[in-house]
Amino acid sequence: MASHDAPLPSMRVDGRVALVTGAGSGLGCSIALALAQAGANLVVTDLPARMANARQTLRRVRDLGRECLAVSLNVTSLKSIERMVEKSIRRFGRIDILVNNAGINISKPALEVTEQDWDQVLDVNLKGVFFCSQAVARGMIQRKSGKIVNIASQNGVIGYYNRAAYCSSKAGVVNLTRVLAIEWAERNINVNAVGPTFVRTPLTEKLFQDESFSREVLRRIPLGRLGKPEDVAGAVVFLSSQAADLITGHTLLVDGGWTAI
Ligand SMILES: NC(=O)c1ccc[n+]([C@@H]2O[C@H](COP(=O)([O-])OP(=O)(O)OC[C@H]3O[C@@H](n4cnc5c(N)ncnc54)[C@H](O)[C@@H]3O)[C@@H](O)[C@H]2O)c1
Repeated sequence: MASHDAPLPSMRVDGRVALVTGAGSGLGCSIALALAQAGANLVVTDLPARMANARQTLRRVRDLGRECLAVSLNVTSLKSIERMVEKSIRRFGRIDILVNNAGINISKPALEVTEQDWDQVLDVNLKGVFFCSQAVARGMIQRKSGKIVNIASQNGVIGYYNRAAYCSSKAGVVNLTRVLAIEWAERNINVNAVGPTFVRTPLTEKLFQDESFSREVLRRIPLGRLGKPEDVAGAVVFLSSQAADLITGHTLLVDGGWTAI
C-alpha cells in the first residue's frame, strides 16, 4: 500500500493498562477518566489519606465500562512505589501507560523558602517522577513496550514569581523526560511530558480567589482562557496512543500560547 493510503494511527488505547498517580483529584482524575474513555483499564493511585477520592475516580472509571484498581501510593517513598507496582502487576499483569501526575506547590517568595519547603516540593515533583518511572519501566523494558507521560508545567520552561522550588522541580521533569526518553528508546518506550498553563483545580483554587491574580494570568494567555482539565487530559491521551509513536523526549505545552510570546 502506498504510504499516502496508510490508515491514520489510532488515538485510542483500547485494552491497555494505564496507571495515574494523584488520580483522586484535579487533573489526575480527569486524565484517568479520559484514558478510560479512550479504552484503557486503570490503576488509580493517591496518598493513603486521599483514598476516598481515588475510590470516587475508580467508580467513575467503572461506570465507563472499564476495569479499575485503586491503590494507595506516596510517590516520595520507594517502598510504597514498589508495593504499588506489585499490586498492579498482580491485578493486570502489566502496566502499559504510566502518567506521573502527582504534584504539589508551596508558593513563597524565594527569600522565605525553607529547606523543608524545598525538599517537600522536589521530593514529590521530581524524585517521585523519577522513581515511579524507574519502577514501572522495569516491566516495560522486558516487554519492549510502554508510554510514560509526565505532568510538568509551563513553569518547567519559564519562571514565575514565588515558585523557586516548583519551577526548579518542573524544569527538572522536562529534562528528566529527555534523559529517560533517550535511555529507553531502544526498548521502544516513549517518555514525554505535558506542560499545562494554569488550570482551576484544588491546587490552584485559592490563587484564583484573588481577582488581580486571575486578571494577570489571563492577560498572559493569548487564547484568552485558563486551561481546563480536559485540555490536559486530551494531550495525555494523545501521547499515550499509537498516534504519538515517534514522539519522545518532548514536552507538549498546553498553555494557550503563554510561552509563545
Ligand atoms: N492546576 C494547575 O494549574 C497546574 C498547572 C500546571 C501543572 N500542574 C501539575 O499537574 C499535576 C496535578 O495537579 P492538580 O492541579 O490536579 O493538583 P491537585 O492538588 O488537585 O492534585 C494533585 C494530586 O496529587 C496527590 N499527591 C500529592 N502528593 C502526593 C504524594 N506524595 N504521593 C502521591 N500522590 C500525591 C494529591 O493527593 C492529589 O490527588 C501536578 O503535577 C501539578 O504540578 C497543575
